Amino acid sequence: MRILVMNGPNLGALGERQPEIYGSQGMDALPALVRAVCGGSADGVDLVFYQSNHEGELLDRLEAARREGVDGIVLNAGALTHTSLALADCLAWIGIPCVEVHISNVFARTDQPLRRQSLIGGQVIGVIAGFGLTGYALAVAALLQRRA
Ligand code: DQA
Repeated sequence: MRILVMNGPNLGALGERQPEIYGSQGMDALPALVRAVCGGSADGVDLVFYQSNHEGELLDRLEAARREGVDGIVLNAGALTHTSLALADCLAWIGIPCVEVHISNVFARTDQPLRRQSLIGGQVIGVIAGFGLTGYALAVAALLQRRA
């Protein structure tokens, strides 16, 4: 099983970017978190990582995932979550189960109500928010469970 873990704008600097909101761990911590959350069920799972600050590149990567036969997507689209109809349209046709992830609890950021709105939310199988990097591992667990 191959899972694409995809991050959008400003998520390349995880660990450095506003650690009070996004934590101090980088994506390199994810394999260990996946092992901790999923245990043996993640054995043999191929995690492929991708990050881009550019909407078009993210779309191209999602289309490539379809061609490659990727089995599941964990997507933190960053701010594009709240604005990108193009990402929503892409998820609607590529036919790969996708879990939307946010490191912060976007619903609790009441000073910025736009963060509560997700344009991609209608095209994903579920949303995980507020658990830091562990949320990505929970998303992997959800994809594995769904396939079992
Ligand atoms: C985020 C939340 C978004 O609102 C924000 O634009 C991000 C990160 C999160 O992981 O909490 O870049 O997706």
